[in-house]
Amino acid sequence: MRQSQLSTDHLLGIKYITKEDIELIFKTAESFKEVINRPIKKVPSLRDITIANLFFENSTRTKMSFELAEKRLSADVINFSSSSSSVKKGETLLDTVNNILSMKVDMIVMRHPAQGAPFFLSKHVDANIINAGDGTHEHPTQALLDSFSMVEKLGNLRGKKILIVGDIKHSRVALSNIFCLQKLGAQVMVCGPPTLIPKMIHLLGVKVEYDLQKALQWCDVANLLRIQLERQDIKYIPSLREYALYYGVNKKLLDSLDKEIIVMHPGPINRGVEITSDAADSDHSIILQQVENGVAIRMAVLYLLAGRREPEV
Ligand code: CP
Repeated sequence: MRQSQLSTDHLLGIKYITKEDIELIFKTAESFKEVINRPIKKVPSLRDITIANLFFENSTRTKMSFELAEKRLSADVINFSSSSSSVKKGETLLDTVNNILSMKVDMIVMRHPAQGAPFFLSKHVDANIINAGDGTHEHPTQALLDSFSMVEKLGNLRGKKILIVGDIKHSRVALSNIFCLQKLGAQVMVCGPPTLIPKMIHLLGVKVEYDLQKALQWCDVANLLRIQLERQDIKYIPSLREYALYYGVNKKLLDSLDKEIIVMHPGPINRGVEITSDAADSDHSIILQQVENGVAIRMAVLYLLAGRREPEV
């Protein structure tokens, strides 16, 4: 029998949810994708729910996508950005959140530079917590929207070959994608400069390839990641120019393969570094479909987590 509820009250990472949870989120997102393509894009599902978006790190896509998803579900929404808050005056994370919760907030979407910050919150507050990216740990809704976009293109991911290229060492998108893709039965390969591939990554069951041409020839889908200079305390690559030379994807390289592959990128793109404009804007690319699917996936996650809340008396 198909599962009708998530197995968890929080979305802290893909590691902590099941394949059945992922399939339920995808099924629900399909319905919401249909809703957001109607002339009236709003449903009343979360009209009694208040959601706080707490962003302690910069974001364009994730923040706007969550906010739009919340509004499409008719939730009340409040936004918090650490750069303009009392965090600057020394307030702790727990004090900040408890103050926000005393305003009767039901769900928290949080991005934070510290790994485990959403997990910490989930142990101390009575609200559903959704991780919108915690340090170099996980970015679960990005992985869900990435896999959902791949399923739309490929049917299902069992046995499909998915390549992740770039700064694997500092990427929460890479880790969440690896967990999600493997739960859905895909084979995963990572590729990048040896300094940006964790030494023990093979223990997660992924293949490692340092030659981009060979890696692209192997895969059905290539998900290209940005070099995360803001998380690098030492120099891992000689220069961005050299990175682009060895690990940048361009249209000529894609055309030289003896098959068609799908190209993805979670954003933000550094055009001319991990991907050139002629590849990012080509027919191979589904980058903007990923962004569109992000709203439907986040609506599904919010809706399903709200369904686990006890009704208020
Ligand atoms: N993909 C992603 O997380 O982008 P933002 O940092 O703009 O949210």
